[in-house]
Amino acid sequence: MTTAPEAPATYRLIDGKQTAEDIKVEIAAEVAQRKAAGQKTPHLAAILVGHDGGSETYVRNKVLACERVGFDSTLLRYEDDITEAELLAKVEELNQDADIDGFIVQLPLPKHISSEKVIETIRPEKDVDGFHPMNIGRMVAGLPALLPATPSGIVELLRRYGLVTDGKHCVVIGRSNIVGTPVSILLAKNLEPGNCTVTLCHSRTRNLAEITRTADILVAALGRPGFVTADMVRPGAVVIDVGTTRVEDATKKAGWALKGDVNFEEVAPKASYITPVPGGVGPMTIAMLLLNTLRAAKGEVYPR
Ligand code: GUN
Repeated sequence: MTTAPEAPATYRLIDGKQTAEDIKVEIAAEVAQRKAAGQKTPHLAAILVGHDGGSETYVRNKVLACERVGFDSTLLRYEDDITEAELLAKVEELNQDADIDGFIVQLPLPKHISSEKVIETIRPEKDVDGFHPMNIGRMVAGLPALLPATPSGIVELLRRYGLVTDGKHCVVIGRSNIVGTPVSILLAKNLEPGNCTVTLCHSRTRNLAEITRTADILVAALGRPGFVTADMVRPGAVVIDVGTTRVEDATKKAGWALKGDVNFEEVAPKASYITPVPGGVGPMTIAMLLLNTLRAAKGEVYPR
Protein backbone atom coordinates (compact mmCIF):
# COMPACT_ATOMS: atom_id res chain seq x y z
CA MET A 1 0.00 0.00 0.00
CA THR A 2 1.25 3.44 -0.85
CA THR A 3 0.33 6.54 1.01
CA ALA A 4 -0.24 9.86 -0.67
CA PRO A 5 2.66 12.25 -0.18
CA GLU A 6 2.00 14.99 2.31
CA ALA A 7 0.84 18.25 0.81
CA PRO A 8 3.85 20.55 0.45
CA ALA A 9 4.11 23.20 3.10
CA THR A 10 3.02 26.51 1.63
CA TYR A 11 4.16 28.82 4.39
CA ARG A 12 6.45 31.74 3.69
CA LEU A 13 9.40 32.65 5.87
CA ILE A 14 9.52 36.21 7.15
CA ASP A 15 13.19 36.94 6.62
CA GLY A 16 14.14 39.31 9.43
CA LYS A 17 17.81 39.07 8.60
CA GLN A 18 17.32 40.36 5.06
CA THR A 19 14.79 42.99 6.15
CA ALA A 20 17.19 44.24 8.81
CA GLU A 21 19.92 44.41 6.14
CA ASP A 22 17.62 46.50 3.92
CA ILE A 23 16.93 48.90 6.79
CA LYS A 24 20.65 49.20 7.57
CA VAL A 25 21.38 50.06 3.94
CA GLU A 26 18.71 52.80 4.12
CA ILE A 27 20.16 54.14 7.37
CA ALA A 28 23.73 54.06 6.00
CA ALA A 29 22.61 56.09 2.96
CA GLU A 30 21.02 58.72 5.20
CA VAL A 31 24.07 58.86 7.46
CA ALA A 32 26.35 59.34 4.42
CA GLN A 33 24.11 62.19 3.26
CA ARG A 34 24.20 63.79 6.70
CA LYS A 35 27.98 63.56 6.82
CA ALA A 36 28.30 65.03 3.32
CA ALA A 37 26.11 67.93 4.45
CA GLY A 38 28.41 68.53 7.43
CA GLN A 39 25.88 67.29 10.00
CA LYS A 40 26.80 65.38 13.10
CA THR A 41 27.50 61.63 12.93
CA PRO A 42 24.92 59.77 15.07
CA HIS A 43 26.56 58.31 18.16
CA LEU A 44 25.18 55.35 20.16
CA ALA A 45 26.63 54.29 23.51
CA ALA A 46 25.98 51.00 25.28
CA ILE A 47 26.57 50.13 28.92
CA LEU A 48 27.25 46.47 29.65
CA VAL A 49 27.52 45.25 33.23
CA GLY A 50 29.07 41.84 33.94
CA HIS A 51 29.75 38.92 31.60
CA ASP A 52 26.42 37.30 30.72
CA GLY A 53 27.06 35.44 27.45
CA GLY A 54 23.82 36.46 25.78
CA SER A 55 24.21 40.12 26.75
CA GLU A 56 27.82 40.17 25.52
CA THR A 57 26.72 38.85 22.13
CA TYR A 58 23.81 41.29 21.81
CA VAL A 59 25.92 44.30 22.75
CA ARG A 60 28.75 43.26 20.44
CA ASN A 61 26.26 42.95 17.59
CA LYS A 62 24.83 46.38 18.39
CA VAL A 63 28.27 47.98 18.28
CA LEU A 64 29.15 46.17 15.01
CA ALA A 65 25.86 47.32 13.50
CA CYS A 66 26.77 50.94 14.35
CA GLU A 67 29.99 50.57 12.39
CA ARG A 68 28.09 49.09 9.45
CA VAL A 69 25.84 52.14 9.09
CA GLY A 70 28.54 54.74 9.79
CA PHE A 71 27.52 55.68 13.35
CA ASP A 72 30.02 56.39 16.10
CA SER A 73 29.71 53.94 18.97
CA THR A 74 31.00 53.68 22.51
CA LEU A 75 30.93 50.58 24.68
CA LEU A 76 31.24 51.10 28.43
CA ARG A 77 31.89 47.91 30.39
CA TYR A 78 31.66 47.45 34.13
CA GLU A 79 32.09 44.50 36.44
CA ASP A 80 29.18 42.87 38.31
CA ASP A 81 30.21 44.59 41.53
CA ILE A 82 29.59 48.15 40.29
CA THR A 83 27.25 49.82 42.79
CA GLU A 84 23.89 51.21 41.83
CA ALA A 85 25.08 54.73 42.69
CA GLU A 86 28.13 54.34 40.46
CA LEU A 87 26.04 53.09 37.56
CA LEU A 88 23.52 55.91 37.98
CA ALA A 89 26.43 58.37 37.87
CA LYS A 90 27.61 56.83 34.56
CA VAL A 91 24.11 57.18 33.15
CA GLU A 92 24.08 60.81 34.23
CA GLU A 93 27.43 61.37 32.45
CA LEU A 94 25.97 60.00 29.21
CA ASN A 95 22.87 62.17 29.71
CA GLN A 96 25.15 65.23 29.83
CA ASP A 97 27.50 64.20 26.99
CA ALA A 98 26.49 66.31 23.99
CA ASP A 99 28.15 63.94 21.53
CA ILE A 100 26.04 60.93 22.58
CA ASP A 101 22.69 60.98 20.78
CA GLY A 102 21.33 57.86 22.42
CA PHE A 103 22.38 55.07 24.74
CA ILE A 104 21.23 51.79 26.17
CA VAL A 105 21.91 49.91 29.37
CA GLN A 106 21.85 46.22 28.50
CA LEU A 107 19.45 44.20 30.66
CA PRO A 108 19.34 42.18 32.82
CA LEU A 109 21.38 43.97 35.47
CA PRO A 110 22.80 42.32 38.62
CA LYS A 111 20.22 41.86 41.37
CA HIS A 112 21.58 44.63 43.59
CA ILE A 113 20.82 47.25 40.92
CA SER A 114 17.29 48.46 40.24
CA SER A 115 16.75 48.43 36.48
CA GLU A 116 13.68 50.65 37.01
CA LYS A 117 15.84 53.29 38.69
CA VAL A 118 18.45 53.06 35.95
CA ILE A 119 15.86 53.37 33.19
CA GLU A 120 14.16 56.32 34.90
CA THR A 121 17.53 58.08 35.12
CA ILE A 122 18.08 57.97 31.34
CA ARG A 123 16.98 61.17 29.62
CA PRO A 124 13.91 60.28 27.52
CA GLU A 125 15.48 62.05 24.51
CA LYS A 126 18.41 59.60 24.64
CA ASP A 127 16.39 56.51 25.60
CA VAL A 128 16.78 54.69 22.27
CA ASP A 129 15.52 51.45 23.86
CA GLY A 130 12.17 53.19 24.42
CA PHE A 131 11.98 51.84 27.99
CA HIS A 132 11.62 55.13 29.92
CA PRO A 133 8.12 55.71 31.36
CA MET A 134 7.97 58.97 29.38
CA ASN A 135 8.42 57.09 26.09
CA ILE A 136 6.04 54.31 27.16
CA GLY A 137 3.44 56.87 28.22
CA ARG A 138 3.78 58.81 24.97
CA MET A 139 3.46 55.57 23.01
CA VAL A 140 0.27 54.63 24.88
CA ALA A 141 -1.12 58.14 24.34
CA GLY A 142 -0.32 57.98 20.62
CA LEU A 143 2.22 60.82 20.82
CA PRO A 144 5.56 60.77 18.98
CA ALA A 145 7.92 58.61 21.07
CA LEU A 146 11.08 56.56 20.87
CA LEU A 147 9.45 53.13 20.53
CA PRO A 148 10.91 49.92 21.98
CA ALA A 149 12.97 48.18 19.34
CA THR A 150 11.59 44.62 19.34
CA PRO A 151 7.90 45.60 19.14
CA SER A 152 8.57 48.17 16.43
CA GLY A 153 10.68 45.56 14.61
CA ILE A 154 7.67 43.22 14.61
CA VAL A 155 5.42 45.98 13.27
CA GLU A 156 8.02 46.81 10.60
CA LEU A 157 8.16 43.16 9.46
CA LEU A 158 4.37 43.09 9.10
CA ARG A 159 4.55 46.35 7.12
CA ARG A 160 7.34 45.30 4.78
CA TYR A 161 5.70 41.95 4.06
CA GLY A 162 2.45 43.78 3.27
CA LEU A 163 0.50 41.68 5.77
CA VAL A 164 -2.99 42.93 6.49
CA THR A 165 -3.54 43.61 10.18
CA ASP A 166 -6.66 45.80 10.06
CA GLY A 167 -9.47 44.12 11.97
CA LYS A 168 -7.43 40.97 12.60
CA HIS A 169 -7.25 39.16 15.91
CA CYS A 170 -3.73 39.32 17.30
CA VAL A 171 -2.91 37.10 20.26
CA VAL A 172 0.26 37.95 22.19
CA ILE A 173 1.71 35.42 24.65
CA GLY A 174 3.84 37.16 27.28
CA ARG A 175 3.38 40.51 29.04
CA SER A 176 6.95 41.74 29.49
CA ASN A 177 7.67 45.48 29.48
CA ILE A 178 10.15 44.95 26.65
CA VAL A 179 7.98 43.00 24.18
CA GLY A 180 4.54 41.61 25.07
CA THR A 181 2.95 44.68 26.60
CA PRO A 182 4.23 47.27 24.09
CA VAL A 183 3.55 45.13 21.00
CA SER A 184 -0.02 44.59 22.19
CA ILE A 185 -0.43 48.37 22.49
CA LEU A 186 1.13 49.17 19.12
CA LEU A 187 -0.91 46.61 17.19
CA ALA A 188 -4.17 47.87 18.71
CA LYS A 189 -3.47 51.48 17.63
CA ASN A 190 -5.31 53.11 14.78
CA LEU A 191 -2.20 52.86 12.61
CA GLU A 192 -1.11 50.95 9.54
CA PRO A 193 -0.04 48.26 10.46
CA GLY A 194 -2.34 48.18 13.46
CA ASN A 195 -6.08 48.21 14.10
CA CYS A 196 -5.90 44.69 15.49
CA THR A 197 -8.18 43.31 18.14
CA VAL A 198 -5.54 42.25 20.64
CA THR A 199 -5.64 39.59 23.34
CA LEU A 200 -2.68 39.66 25.74
CA CYS A 201 -2.11 36.23 27.31
CA HIS A 202 0.26 35.37 30.16
CA SER A 203 1.13 32.73 32.72
CA ARG A 204 -2.27 33.02 34.45
CA THR A 205 -4.34 32.80 31.27
CA ARG A 206 -6.85 29.96 31.32
CA ASN A 207 -7.59 27.96 28.16
CA LEU A 208 -4.56 29.41 26.41
CA ALA A 209 -4.70 27.07 23.40
CA GLU A 210 -8.39 27.88 22.86
CA ILE A 211 -7.48 31.55 22.62
CA THR A 212 -4.36 31.14 20.48
CA ARG A 213 -6.35 29.03 18.01
CA THR A 214 -8.47 32.12 17.27
CA ALA A 215 -5.39 34.21 16.36
CA ASP A 216 -4.90 35.55 12.85
CA ILE A 217 -1.55 36.86 14.10
CA LEU A 218 0.18 35.01 16.94
CA VAL A 219 3.10 36.65 18.74
CA ALA A 220 5.03 34.32 21.06
CA ALA A 221 7.13 36.28 23.55
CA LEU A 222 7.23 34.24 26.75
CA GLY A 223 10.78 32.87 26.69
CA ARG A 224 9.96 29.15 26.80
CA PRO A 225 11.60 27.25 23.94
CA GLY A 226 9.21 25.27 21.72
CA PHE A 227 6.17 26.27 23.81
CA VAL A 228 3.80 26.93 20.89
CA THR A 229 2.79 23.65 19.29
CA ALA A 230 0.74 22.93 16.16
CA ASP A 231 -2.50 22.33 18.09
CA MET A 232 -2.32 25.94 19.36
CA VAL A 233 -2.25 27.49 15.88
CA ARG A 234 -5.05 28.21 13.45
CA PRO A 235 -4.33 27.14 9.86
CA GLY A 236 -3.12 30.15 7.88
CA ALA A 237 -2.05 32.21 10.92
CA VAL A 238 0.88 34.61 10.82
CA VAL A 239 3.30 33.43 13.50
CA ILE A 240 5.89 35.78 15.03
CA ASP A 241 8.45 34.08 17.29
CA VAL A 242 10.24 36.41 19.68
CA GLY A 243 11.94 33.68 21.73
CA THR A 244 15.74 33.52 21.84
CA THR A 245 16.68 30.98 24.49
CA ARG A 246 20.08 29.30 24.42
CA VAL A 247 19.61 25.53 24.67
CA GLU A 248 22.33 22.90 24.81
CA ASP A 249 23.16 21.49 21.40
CA ALA A 250 26.18 19.20 21.11
CA THR A 251 26.08 19.42 17.29
CA LYS A 252 26.97 23.13 17.45
CA LYS A 253 30.50 24.43 17.90
CA ALA A 254 29.42 26.74 20.71
CA GLY A 255 27.62 23.84 22.44
CA TRP A 256 24.30 25.66 22.27
CA ALA A 257 21.69 26.79 19.76
CA LEU A 258 19.14 29.61 19.84
CA LYS A 259 15.61 28.25 20.23
CA GLY A 260 12.42 30.16 19.65
CA ASP A 261 9.17 29.95 21.62
CA VAL A 262 7.54 28.19 18.67
CA ASN A 263 8.04 24.54 17.72
CA PHE A 264 8.97 25.53 14.17
CA GLU A 265 8.90 22.09 12.55
CA GLU A 266 5.30 21.37 13.48
CA VAL A 267 3.90 24.92 13.41
CA ALA A 268 5.41 26.19 10.12
CA PRO A 269 3.35 23.89 7.83
CA LYS A 270 0.16 25.29 9.41
CA ALA A 271 1.18 28.94 9.15
CA SER A 272 0.84 31.32 6.21
CA TYR A 273 3.90 33.31 7.32
CA ILE A 274 6.36 32.56 10.10
CA THR A 275 9.57 34.07 11.49
CA PRO A 276 12.51 31.67 11.96
CA VAL A 277 14.84 31.64 14.98
CA PRO A 278 17.52 32.78 14.45
CA GLY A 279 17.06 35.23 11.57
CA GLY A 280 13.57 36.51 12.35
CA VAL A 281 12.75 39.11 14.96
CA GLY A 282 16.25 39.23 16.51
CA PRO A 283 18.07 41.10 13.72
CA MET A 284 15.14 43.54 13.48
CA THR A 285 15.66 44.60 17.09
CA ILE A 286 19.13 45.89 16.23
CA ALA A 287 17.95 47.60 13.03
CA MET A 288 15.21 49.42 14.94
CA LEU A 289 17.66 50.45 17.66
CA LEU A 290 19.79 52.07 14.93
CA LEU A 291 16.70 53.77 13.51
CA ASN A 292 15.85 55.14 16.97
CA THR A 293 19.40 56.46 17.32
CA LEU A 294 19.11 58.23 13.96
CA ARG A 295 15.76 59.70 15.01
CA ALA A 296 17.29 60.86 18.31
CA ALA A 297 20.23 62.45 16.45
CA LYS A 298 17.80 64.27 14.18
CA GLY A 299 15.72 65.47 17.15
CA GLU A 300 12.71 63.96 15.40
CA VAL A 301 10.77 63.02 18.53
CA TYR A 302 12.06 65.62 20.98
CA PRO A 303 13.09 68.67 18.94
CA ARG A 304 16.37 70.15 20.10
N1 GUN B 1 17.88 42.73 27.05
C1 GUN B 1 17.11 41.99 26.20
N2 GUN B 1 16.63 42.76 25.20
C2 GUN B 1 17.09 44.01 25.43
C3 GUN B 1 16.93 45.24 24.74
O1 GUN B 1 16.24 45.36 23.71
N3 GUN B 1 17.58 46.31 25.28
C4 GUN B 1 18.32 46.22 26.42
N4 GUN B 1 18.90 47.33 26.88
N5 GUN B 1 18.46 45.09 27.08
C5 GUN B 1 17.87 43.99 26.58
